[in-house]
Amino acid sequence: MLEIHDLVVRYKTGSLFSRLQPGAVKHVDVLAGVSLHVPPGKTLGLIGESGSGKTTLGRTVIGLAPIARGSIQVNGREPNDASDLSWRAIRRETGLIFQDPMAALDPRMTVEHLVTEPFTVNGRDIKRRAEASRLLDLVGLPSLFLDRYPHQLSGGQARRVAVARALALRPKLIIADEPTAGLDLSVQGELLNLLTSLQQELGMSYLIITHNLAITRHVTDRIAIMYLGRIVETGPTDVVFRAPAHPYTQALLGAKSKHKLPGAGVLTGEVPTLSHRPSGCEFHTRCPLATDYCRAAAPSLHSLSGEHQVACHTPLINAQPLSAQTGRLSLTEMHP
Ligand SMILES: Nc1ncnc2c1ncn2[C@@H]1O[C@H](COP(=O)(O)OP(=O)(O)O)[C@@H](O)[C@H]1O
Ligand SMILES: [Mg+2]
Repeated sequence: MLEIHDLVVRYKTGSLFSRLQPGAVKHVDVLAGVSLHVPPGKTLGLIGESGSGKTTLGRTVIGLAPIARGSIQVNGREPNDASDLSWRAIRRETGLIFQDPMAALDPRMTVEHLVTEPFTVNGRDIKRRAEASRLLDLVGLPSLFLDRYPHQLSGGQARRVAVARALALRPKLIIADEPTAGLDLSVQGELLNLLTSLQQELGMSYLIITHNLAITRHVTDRIAIMYLGRIVETGPTDVVFRAPAHPYTQALLGAKSKHKLPGAGVLTGEVPTLSHRPSGCEFHTRCPLATDYCRAAAPSLHSLSGEHQVACHTPLINAQPLSAQTGRLSLTEMHP
């Protein structure tokens, strides 16, 4: 349903004048060669710290960020240029639930108008009241909410309205950016249950974007971990939770991992910026296990077993040498 191949999103930095200065950083790659896919009816969790490029990726899928390289396909459709016309079909098939729904919901519009706005934008004629009731029903809100304004909604209710709005045009793909951020734990659970049951009922694919690894565990089929605009680990959710291979994933999982190596799981060191990417493995400035080789050579994403892939020279696979697993290089062999 969603196929992203080698995607680079590049922004110019500073003013034209500052870019002309010798040695100036002229652009930053917010996404630096991202590939991922979400099969029909499945859920991929995209996880990374704040600033890693998650929101940018969601926006890029509907044509709202400058693509410097790579390709995006939604339901087999690939836009051929940056024009709105080219992206229109993809936007119709993709429901986006924005980060911070309160900011995304126009305070002057009633819930009835908010959830049916996608029809208006697309010039579609509908029985507004009936359609709005249907959408609210899908997300478990009674019709008495139709005449409310955003400031009259709780955080959880606002999120449900955002979900209803994303569902309006019966999309094949839903992108949910931090769907549970800022909600109480019990409301977070309710919202995740709602997303899961909607998927069972309507069969959409989901891309769930979050900085919170824990919430993805029960609602995703696969996860991808992003660091500085690159995927550093990806695989079936249960496999990555059981045997996280990248030290960054380990750190995100915290002390919960059974396979914690000495020194792993605590991030120290300098957090790099996009305008000054570290040499070699870009995680080396924070990695407790980094070697000179890591500082010099960038690891590429390679397969550990099946769909489990990692970009690390010293992946933490149950602390066993790699050769014991699949006849691949052992840890020592990987360090020339
Ligand atoms: N329009 C833009 N121009 C320049 N830099 C941007 C722009 N949009 C986002 N960025 C940068 O891209 C990085 C990733 O941002 P974002 O995608 O919002 O990350 P996340 O959602 O993971 O927190 C940040 O460093 C941000 O400053
Ligand atoms: Mg974000």
